[in-house]
Amino acid sequence: MPLAGKKILLGVCGSIAAYKSALLVRLLVKNGADVKVIMTAAAHDFITPLTLSTLSKNPVLTHFSKDETGQWNNHVELGLWADVFVLAPASANTIAKIANGICDNLLLATYLSARCPVLFAPAMDLDMWQHASTQANLKKLIAFGNILIEPTHGELASGLIGTGRMAEPEQILQSIEKFFKPGRLTGKKALVTAGPTYEALDPVRFIGNHSTGKMGFAIAEELSREGAEVTLVSGPTHLPAPAGVNVVKVNSAEEMFLASKTHFASADITVFSAAVADYKPATKADQKIKKGSGPMVIELVKTYDIAAELGKLKKPGQITVGFALETENERTNAQSKLKAKNFDLIVLNSLNDAGAGFGHDTNKISILSVSTSKEFNLKSKKEVAADIVTAIIEHAYA
Ligand SMILES: Cc1cc2nc3c(=O)[nH]c(=O)nc-3n(C[C@H](O)[C@H](O)[C@H](O)COP(=O)(O)O)c2cc1C
Repeated sequence: MPLAGKKILLGVCGSIAAYKSALLVRLLVKNGADVKVIMTAAAHDFITPLTLSTLSKNPVLTHFSKDETGQWNNHVELGLWADVFVLAPASANTIAKIANGICDNLLLATYLSARCPVLFAPAMDLDMWQHASTQANLKKLIAFGNILIEPTHGELASGLIGTGRMAEPEQILQSIEKFFKPGRLTGKKALVTAGPTYEALDPVRFIGNHSTGKMGFAIAEELSREGAEVTLVSGPTHLPAPAGVNVVKVNSAEEMFLASKTHFASADITVFSAAVADYKPATKADQKIKKGSGPMVIELVKTYDIAAELGKLKKPGQITVGFALETENERTNAQSKLKAKNFDLIVLNSLNDAGAGFGHDTNKISILSVSTSKEFNLKSKKEVAADIVTAIIEHAYA
């Protein structure tokens, strides 16, 4: 049984999806887990403690003390008991409270004192989900290291259709099982470069590109999920640091080169996903350049070719993966780049494919080695990251 002996604390909030918690408890117990449940007061309107205590075979707790005896329901002990704390469903209200360190009920106090990892499965109407405050709170929770189990798209209790349905109990079970499975890259070190670089022209202007860093951040997160110790060298982006990943922030290609070089020697796997500027202004003006009357010519010089420079330092056993974003002769150009930069694998995406490349949440890739080529469908960048990491594992460690 995959969850045999695992101690799982389930937090249930006031959402219509609370009925799914009963199915989740059953699945967890069936898979060998020892389950304890904490409900918020609002959750009682949606499911009874009797149902959850019967299924979990443990008393269900809601209040800080037992009404009849005045005995303390020890939230610190509960937090220390659990191997993992799963909030499902996680309401917008509880997410907001967690984001702000509020602990005015037993579930929240337990969250604050828990030392174990926390997975949370939000459930709410699509407009609540999309609201800027909910999205900002989610970012905070992820930045705190909590693991999001994404809600799905579909019909909601309100009758509206959109994103906000809590993941199905089977999916939540899978996330929990995956969490306990030792990663396939445990003991390995990985380096990922991501985002654009900004090449300064003067103190206020730069030459940059449209890379958002989403792909590289997703790869770093996936490598970390597989157990690798990950350093992410990132150009300027607005993305939150993935949980458990060491993020080094840089601006220019030169800074990215120097930061990457520091970590490259000890990296078993390096993924060069940053969109590094090929050229930079020959000089950076000390003061803001004034508008003149005629045209302006900027002299550009080459930047460091980070992948090529570090490729020269590559030792046997080190795996390097590059990216090729091509607009023409895609495969031929990608194969040439693979060989020129001594990559083990190259991920090709084409700007000719709808939904692929900069800024999108999706990508459509092919992964090439000297002798193999595999094409993938259009997928979310998270799924694409999982495909890339699996390709690395199959290529190097299978
Ligand atoms: C019928 C009904 C359904 C609700 N469904 C949800 C929901 O799916 N998600 C959510 O965040 N809030 C939902 N709410 C609102 C919460 O129950 C409310 O914000 C409550 O204060 C949450 O408290 P808690 O976070 O302590 O559990 C619903 C309310 C009602 C009356």
